Amino acid sequence: MLVISLPSDPGLGRGLANLLGFRYSEVVYKVFPDGESYLRFPEISGEDGVLLVLTSYPDQNRSLLELFLSVELLSSKGLSKVYAVMLYLAYGRQDKEFLSWEVVSGRAVLKIMRCVGLKKLLVVDIHSEKLLEEFSDLIVNVLPVKTFGQYIKNNVGEPYILVAPDVGASKRVRLIAEFLGKDYVTIKKVRDRVTGEVTHQLPEDLDVTGVNAVIIDDIISTGGTIASIAKYLASKGARKIYVLASHGLFVGDALNKLRLSGVNKVVVLNTVGHRLTSDLVEYLDVSGELAESIKGSLL
Ligand code: R5P
Repeated sequence: MLVISLPSDPGLGRGLANLLGFRYSEVVYKVFPDGESYLRFPEISGEDGVLLVLTSYPDQNRSLLELFLSVELLSSKGLSKVYAVMLYLAYGRQDKEFLSWEVVSGRAVLKIMRCVGLKKLLVVDIHSEKLLEEFSDLIVNVLPVKTFGQYIKNNVGEPYILVAPDVGASKRVRLIAEFLGKDYVTIKKVRDRVTGEVTHQLPEDLDVTGVNAVIIDDIISTGGTIASIAKYLASKGARKIYVLASHGLFVGDALNKLRLSGVNKVVVLNTVGHRLTSDLVEYLDVSGELAESIKGSLL
């Protein structure tokens, strides 16, 4: 197996190849003056498969198109195993028609990958369980259970509580809680039927006064979701507020929003190409957990 970084890889390809004991290569890459991508692969012989490493943020459209172009070439060359590690899957939140006749971008993107010949797609913390079920033959979802679990063990003081920001996040938080041998709570979202305002609710019998709170989610985009929950937890007397999220997109003034909401630490994985330098943010390397998953599911 040959590991190849596509242009959007934020720098994990070479390390992954080392961890897996595979050969590593890059592509020749340029962008034509009119904006079109050009890619040229090294001649591949003696290897039955290729593992492409990439992300899809920022510049979702270009990085996805570059994956489609690459997979089409490699599968048409007769390689039997054309696999990809997508560190962050863009469009994953649009997994159905929320309004009728909306495009289902997540489904479309995955259909195209399959159509051009991709055999397996490893995704770090896919947003949608629905897409995971619909494409169960294609996708392997890698949850950062050990990476986050170990961080919490080493860095968060007792007593602490693990918090799932909504029902969708509870599976991820449950697995981390099991790893740590801890309980967790799921925050209830309450929408005021008159004003439309969204507020949050902890279970009534739970007192978080003086307790450290660890909110665990998949994506920080605008930071609105986490900021609102952090404010709520701070108002309930939580001591320190930690946020662990797989993908830190940090759109616009997200970081400032988080800081103002009372968050003490934001911990994200190295899954996207956009990296902040801030005393508030810490990056964890997900390569080890990814390599374990590749060994377990692809080899
Ligand atoms: C929602 O279901 C997701 O899991 C994230 O909570 C959401 O995408 C975060 O977006 P934002 O940071 O813009 O609130």
